Amino acid sequence: MSKLVVANWKANPQTGVETVKLAKASDKKNVVICPPFLFLEAVKKNLKKAMLGAQDVFWKEGAFTGEVSVKELKSLGVKYVIVGHSEQRRNFKETDAIINKKVKLVIGAGLKAILCVGEELPVRKKGITAAKKFVKSQLQKDLKNVKKINNLIVAYEPVWAISIVKNSKADTPEDAAKMIRFIKKTVWSRVLYGGSVSVKNIRGFLKYKEIDGFLIGGASLKAKDFQKMIKILR
Ligand code: PGA
Repeated sequence: MSKLVVANWKANPQTGVETVKLAKASDKKNVVICPPFLFLEAVKKNLKKAMLGAQDVFWKEGAFTGEVSVKELKSLGVKYVIVGHSEQRRNFKETDAIINKKVKLVIGAGLKAILCVGEELPVRKKGITAAKKFVKSQLQKDLKNVKKINNLIVAYEPVWAISIVKNSKADTPEDAAKMIRFIKKTVWSRVLYGGSVSVKNIRGFLKYKEIDGFLIGGASLKAKDFQKMIKILR
């Protein structure tokens, strides 16, 4: 199966013009582009091969100022929704109970949920066994009563590896693969790796067949780097 690449643009780029330019340059097969909500429609119009994803969703509709519902996302042609990203967990105190609601909502709407899990540095410092225990507990809570697991993708993103985190560095391919094998024992789904993936290190991860693809933040904003990474994967 081809590797899936999810581009998480976060709150970037800053204008519609730049966003469309980046979308056109990133429009490749087996790529999911997750632009800011604001630019979903403009990106969709410019995609021929890539699929459209959203970075989050709210679990209700109606009087919720500033939020975006799953039906709204669906109406724009969104096929994938990132849920439980560590920036949401950290910055907005998103709990596993909320994430569980979102996963159920996304899957119930017939879209694919990309559930992000991963341990913080103090947990990892205790060793890989502690990290596995932490990730297993996130999966159990986030996936409580989740059916139709075939619409689920898990992204293992150790929080300490995400490029904007101070002193971050990518996980080693060997350890990422270990964790991904462990996740696959807990839940039957495709599992991606995310956290400082770059042109320089992506080949290392490719040696491990169990890694089904990548969730890429910073490097997906650099069109040339992103194109190079896609080429390496083909
Ligand atoms: P990064 O981000 O590739 O910049 O580390 C990944 C993510 O936050 O999803």
